[in-house]
Formats: sequence, C-alpha cells, structure tokens
Amino acid sequence: MPDIESLLKEKRTFKPDREFTRQANWNKKQTAEYRAMADKNPERFWAKMAKENVSWFTPWKKVLDWKPPFAKWFVGGKLNVSYNCVDRHLEGENAWRRNKAAIIWEGEPGDTRTITYGELHREICKFANVMKSQGVKKGDRVALYMPMIPELSIAILACTRIGAVHSVVFGGFSAEALRDRINDAGAKLVVTADGGYRRGAPYPLKPAVDEALEGTPSVTSVVTVKRTGEPTRMQAGRDHWWHELTDEASAVCEPAKLDAEHPLFILYTSGTTGKPKGILHTTGGYLTHVTTTAKVLFDLKDSDTFWCTADIGWVTGHSYVVYGILANGATTLMYEGVPTHPGPDRFWDIIERWGVTIFYTAPTAIRTFVRLGDEHPKKHDLSSLRLLGTVGEPINPEAWMWYHRIIGKKKCPIVDTWWQTETGGIMITPLPSSVDTKPGSATNPFPGIDAAIFSEEGNEVDPPNGGYLVIREPWPGMLRGIWGDPKRFKETYWSKYKNIYFTGDGAHRDQDSYFWIMGRVDDVMNISGHRIGTMEVESALVSHTKVAESAVVGRPDSLTGTAIVAFVTPKSGETVDDVLKEELRTHVTKQIGAIAKPKEIRFTDALPKTRSGKIMRRLLRDIASGRSVGDTTTLEDFSVVAKLREGDEA
Ligand code: PRX
Repeated sequence: MPDIESLLKEKRTFKPDREFTRQANWNKKQTAEYRAMADKNPERFWAKMAKENVSWFTPWKKVLDWKPPFAKWFVGGKLNVSYNCVDRHLEGENAWRRNKAAIIWEGEPGDTRTITYGELHREICKFANVMKSQGVKKGDRVALYMPMIPELSIAILACTRIGAVHSVVFGGFSAEALRDRINDAGAKLVVTADGGYRRGAPYPLKPAVDEALEGTPSVTSVVTVKRTGEPTRMQAGRDHWWHELTDEASAVCEPAKLDAEHPLFILYTSGTTGKPKGILHTTGGYLTHVTTTAKVLFDLKDSDTFWCTADIGWVTGHSYVVYGILANGATTLMYEGVPTHPGPDRFWDIIERWGVTIFYTAPTAIRTFVRLGDEHPKKHDLSSLRLLGTVGEPINPEAWMWYHRIIGKKKCPIVDTWWQTETGGIMITPLPSSVDTKPGSATNPFPGIDAAIFSEEGNEVDPPNGGYLVIREPWPGMLRGIWGDPKRFKETYWSKYKNIYFTGDGAHRDQDSYFWIMGRVDDVMNISGHRIGTMEVESALVSHTKVAESAVVGRPDSLTGTAIVAFVTPKSGETVDDVLKEELRTHVTKQIGAIAKPKEIRFTDALPKTRSGKIMRRLLRDIASGRSVGDTTTLEDFSVVAKLREGDEA
C-alpha cells in the first residue's frame, strides 16, 4: 500500500492558535468535557446537542431506537427545518437578525443579491404556497435541477416547510441522468431555471428538463426561474414561470410540525452498480448533526460570512451552504460560477469584497490555485479569513501547506473534514480550538462518532496498519436508507460487518491515533471530490452502438485526484481512431454528464479476465497508471496484458 508509506513520512504538526482558542465556541476545556461525555454516553451527548442547537415544537420521547441497520433518532419529537433555519432568527432575542444577510449571492457575470433573514422568510413562504397550489403535499417528492442561484436555497427550504421531500439533481447532469432520478423518486414537481452562467457565457437548463420529461409519468408541473433571459420553450398547462407564480402567492405559510424521522431529502450518489442510489436523510437527526458540526468545527458566530464553494447539487452544499449555516443564523455566501472567471483571482476577489471569514473548499480547487500561481491571491487582502476547511478527497500535504501559508497566512486553523453523502454531516475532523493538525490528516472523529479501522476479517487493526474505515455506532445524521431499495441498503453498507457501517474507504491511523484517509476501496472513483461509479461509465459506454465491452478504472491525477481511464473493446469491424474516441467521450457526457467524461480511452481487442470471467480491475488500474503489472496468475489470456501495454506505448 504505497499511500501509507508516503503519508507516514509527514511529521509536521500545527498547534491551535491561542487567540483562536480563546474565542472559540468550544474552548479546550469544553471540548474535553463534551468528548468525555460523548465517549461515555453518545446518546446523552447528541441529546444535549439536539436541545442546545435545534428548536423543537414537541420534545422527543426516546433519543435513539436502533434496530440495525435501521435507526430512529429523537423518536416522537416534532420540528420544522425551515423554522430552524429562518423563523427562529426573527423571534425573541434573535429578532434583530430580521435585516441581517442570510444569503449573499454573487452571479458569475458579477450581479449580486443580498437576502436578509426577513426576506428569506417571505420568499420561502411564497414558494411553499406555490408548491401547494401545484398540488404538492407532505411526503411528495420535488426534483430541483437548478444553477447556484438563491431560488435553489429558497425552494429547498420551502420543501422543508411543508414536508415535501427534495431531490436536488446537480445541474451538470444530463437529461438522461435527470430522468432516471426523477423516475426513481417519483417526483411530482420539477423546479428549474432557463439556464445559468458558466465560464462567461449562459448555458441552458430547461431544454434538458423538457427532454427528461418525455419519459417521466409522475411529473405534473414544472416551475422555471428566469435567470439568463434566453428564449425558452414553455409547455402550456405544465410549465410556469417562478416569478409569475410567486408574485401572486401569499407570504404567510405556517411551518408544518413534522416528525423527527420525516423524510427530508433524497440525494443520488454513485455506487458500485450502474444505478445511482437515492440516499435518504430525515429531519431531526440530520439537522442536529449539521447544525452542531457547523457551530463547533467551523466555529460559526453571528458575525461570520461563511463561504462553502460546493454546488448545492452535492451533499456538501446541502449541509454547509444551506442547512448547517442558516440554522446557526450566520451569513452564507453563494457563488454561481467557476473559480477562474473572469480571471484566476475570482475567489480571492470575492473573499476580499465580501469579507469572507470562513472558507470551505475542495483539494482539487486548491491544487488548481497552486498551479495558477501565488500572485493571484497575493493581489488581494484576505485578512478577513479566520478559518479554512477542505472536503471531498484526501488533501496532499503540499497543497495543505500552500493553503496554510498563502491563504491562511499561517494564522487560520485548517479543518480537513471527512464525511460522505451517506453520513449527512462531518464525521472526522480536527476541532480547531483543541486538536493539533497534521497536513493531510482529517485527525479524529467528532465527539459522538465511533470510527474505527477494520481488517478484512472484522478486527480492529493497530496503528500504523491500514484497513477499512467503519463507523461502529449509529449517529444522528446517518442515512436512513436507499430510496425504495432496503435490500441494497443492507447489502451495501451493513453486510461486510455485522451491524457496523462500512464506508467504502480505506484508511490507517498513525502512532497518535490520527486517521489518514486513503480513498475508495470499491469500484467508485473520486473525481475532483465527486463520486462516479466505474459501472455507471461502463454502462454508458456499452450503450454506444460501436462498443462491445468496456472496463473503467481510475488512475491518480495531480489535479483532479483521480482521472477516468476507459478500456474499450469495439464491436468487430469498427474502425478505431480518434474520431471514435471523441464520439465515446461525448456519448458518456450525454448519458451522465461532463464530470463522468473519460480523460483517456484505450482500445483493446479483449479485456483481461480471470478464469471465472471477472474483469481484473486491479491489473487495469496498474496499466492505466503506468505501474508495473502485479500478479497475473489468474489471468485467462496472458497475451491481453501484452497488447494493453503495447497500447500504452502507442
Ligand atoms: O472517499 C471519501 C471522500 O469522498 C467520499 C464521499 O463522497 P461524497 O459522498 O460525494 O461526499 C463528498 C463530500 C462529503 C468519501 O467516501 N472524502 C470526503 N472527504 C474526504 C474524503 N477523502 C479524504 N479526506 C476527506 N476530507
């Protein structure tokens, strides 16, 4: 395991800044107390967090009901997420927040909007009433396919207000991918926009919805936000403009009193089969988890302007652009476009202009900035920053050091946060006031999270050995299932070890018990912090008329972490050339979206298989990354390897 070797050489440690610790929401002493409480009795700890950080209409009767693998948290409790994110900031001693910025939004062309908590409340109520008028009821699913504009946050919160279940589909996914997700969830309503801005130009979204809706019997209406003003086809009876409906809607809508286990959202993520999984999260536990983690490890205060650069189409955006930040009454910044438009300093310009205090981004972005050169951040005053975070993939120590020196000016703590779509909120992370950080390590589990590293046989392994990262005890933000597929839920997460959650990641701990995440151990790739299943790309490739078979693997990439390499066997008689390569890349983009487009396509007469017919992925991974080919004793046809390697040289 070469990754373990290289990471173990990392000896640098960074102590929490004294000034920072003094003012932290949890100082050293409190952190130690909470940790001790959580270690002794995690339920007691989480109950305390739920009481302190979340407002309930009705208190729960039981903290946890655990019938593995099904958990219920805060049983009998009633609450509303939009009430927690907005209404409670307009009442009592918090009422001064009415005219405080809840969302600061910046469009890529440079247009901006600042929405106060008072305004956000009105907009949410109006859109909740619009949804009701479109026949959406408690428990109905609503698909959101939108650019990063405030209406996306408004629509999400409006769903929570009436108990509709949102399913946000990242705007970069294709019409086909959208259709599959709409059908799997059985969505009644689709909310979209005419388009958005990216890399200096408008791009359309509504046409993809029109295409997807050719095969989605459950959808009865579509609401479209006018963002770009480009000509947009509207289908009478089905399609409505957001502004027309909301103009007429009432701004009064009581928040529904929902059960703690009421479904909050479905978010699709890649797995080891071709079909994405609809990860289901529910209300009370999820909100407790994201609100608590945001308050403690981002040290969120009323005075903070928090910027998480993730798109709301991913779980990071759900938990830490919208829910965790607004529930704490802080200001969340949303940006529509790419980091390099109109120039390579766009992010630093945004931080300077808005006085961003906390910045949370992905290692891929940091590596891009390292390449672009230090002169761009150095042109800007970044002194408002007081804490930095990373998420989505392992960060290489040199990128961490750059972030620390050039962006954090050596004074900002860095929280490297490990978590997943399935975990709902952050699981392994330094607490900035009290944990020494090491570049490249997510350090320790959050209090109340029982993470461990297991051997294949299910024994905990001793440092510094590597193994599988597992979570031994249930936690409030955990997924409650895969939408409509309890069997797959059990098989994917709970079958490797009995009653223990299997993350799909490899990791090891060092002598100080720090966790070092080594990446996926299954057939899931992590491209720029986004999960793509090898099987999904393979299914897309074989759906092309000229392809007989394909195998997809990831290989290390210095920018995106992993790059997609596709080995393709064309049907006999097909000409293999660069034209076909391009055709296949475009085909995958059409089937899934640009993020799944293979970086490299290699044609081969046959794929290496074991005698039992299984594709030898490990071997393909070695070939794709130029490593020496490992053990091939089970190979059915040795000549295949030689041919694949010839392709290497070509
Ligand atoms: O492999 C881990 C990696 O991202 C996976 C989860 O992907 P997703 O569900 O899309 O959620 C991403 C954002 C929460 C994990 O299984 N990952 C996430 N954070 C880290 C990480 N790997 C290393 N270090 C991290 N901080």
